[in-house]
Amino acid sequence: MKIDVILGLQWGDEGKGKIVDFLANDYDIVARFQGGPNAGHTLKFGGNKYVLHTVPSGIFRADLVNLIGNGVVLDPLVFQRELRSLEQSNVRFHSRLLIARKAHLILPTHRWLDAASEAHKGVAKIGSTLKGIGPTYMDKTGRNGLRAGDIESPNFREHYEMLKTKHLELLKIYPKVPFDLEKEEEAWFESLNTLRALPFVDGEYYINEALAAGKKILAEGAQGSMLDIDYGTYPFVTSSNTITAGVCTGLGVAPQHIGRVIGITKAYCTRVGGGPFPTEQDNEIGEMLRQEGQEFGSTTGRARRCGWIDLPQLRYTILLNGVTELCMTKIDVLNIFSEIKAATHYRYAGKEQQNLPFDLCQTAVEPLFKTYKGWNATLESAATFESLPAETRAYLNDLERYLGVPIKMISTGPEREKLIVR
Ligand code: GDP
Ligand code: IMO
Ligand code: MG
Repeated sequence: MKIDVILGLQWGDEGKGKIVDFLANDYDIVARFQGGPNAGHTLKFGGNKYVLHTVPSGIFRADLVNLIGNGVVLDPLVFQRELRSLEQSNVRFHSRLLIARKAHLILPTHRWLDAASEAHKGVAKIGSTLKGIGPTYMDKTGRNGLRAGDIESPNFREHYEMLKTKHLELLKIYPKVPFDLEKEEEAWFESLNTLRALPFVDGEYYINEALAAGKKILAEGAQGSMLDIDYGTYPFVTSSNTITAGVCTGLGVAPQHIGRVIGITKAYCTRVGGGPFPTEQDNEIGEMLRQEGQEFGSTTGRARRCGWIDLPQLRYTILLNGVTELCMTKIDVLNIFSEIKAATHYRYAGKEQQNLPFDLCQTAVEPLFKTYKGWNATLESAATFESLPAETRAYLNDLERYLGVPIKMISTGPEREKLIVR
């Protein structure tokens, strides 16, 4: 058996949660491999809406095991809140929500540092979700971090105090931002009990034994490839490897175990926070996309920046991830447009180019758009690709041709059942 992967090909919020939830029924295990509570994955079914931050999106499927892998950074406090809301929805998860011992912990002072570091950057700020992601991954690579498995150690409190003291020293170089450490700390330690109540596993053994036993595993990405620490629009990125390679390090599996790689893209493009966005429409069109697509952040509520789909950008992330098939979401949001655009090339350094420049932050690229005729019709009743309006099919067929990968799923609404599978 191989591990299939689902991940976002843009700047996040492509609709990963919805698609993972839909596909989860075909799997035994859903595993998150990176990121943390900066993620907000929305699921809609049975007239209800759920937003998950740390918990994998397979949690609503009875009997399915959900693993929080070692590449994830976990804030026990945010996690506790998330679990309480699952309990309120009568989701039984206690025996099937597993924590990899090597997942790093987000401390209250990591959140404080995140806020102070952003305040220090001023207008150049990243637009972080302020969940402590950057500082936690910094401590991981700086070899100072605390891991979930450490809470089982008798020296845990001592190690916590050492790290906290270091953070308090660091905070002195930043502008002051309000933070009630005593209160946050108390709640944080209390929330460790919630964590203790869940099964801890050595994630790398768990996942490899599951593979050997023939279990079907789906790896769920967070953020998007353009937010990848190595290949995204650095420094306006997150602090983890969001691409397929992150599955190997984040779960402890070898590359030959990777199977299908399902890349998700919206039918247009969004980004939340700072940083370059070549096809952004900071105008009436962007506003129409925002309103029609309800483009407001699932984690922070911030308005998302909106623009047309960017094919050079997608070709780049398809390449990085080894995407075997595409899933296009939110095609219904384009119903209101009589004309739809897609950037097919960039112009920079005096010529038309297909590749992204070294640094999108430093290079002014001009996206070159192709225009498509809109369909101006509802897609409500379309259950198959063939029953989509001719203009929708023409748009999808043309994108497929540019991208060189088949679009196998088309999402026509936020609800679980609004999905065309080809
Ligand atoms: P994720 O972070 O990739 O899981 O995506 P988010 O949940 O942050 O954002 C996607 C938003 O689009 C959510 O509000 C979803 O309910 C919604 N959504 C997902 N698929 C569709 C779709 O096909 N059409 C529409 N209109 N909304 C969708
Ligand atoms: P999902 O999984 C969209 C963005 C933030 C900011 C940058 C760094 O829901 O797609 P961080 O908190 O990681 O330090 O923020 O990355 N960002 C996201 N944007 N969707 C997400 O997750 C994101 N997670 C982080 O807005 O620009
Ligand atoms: Mg999201």
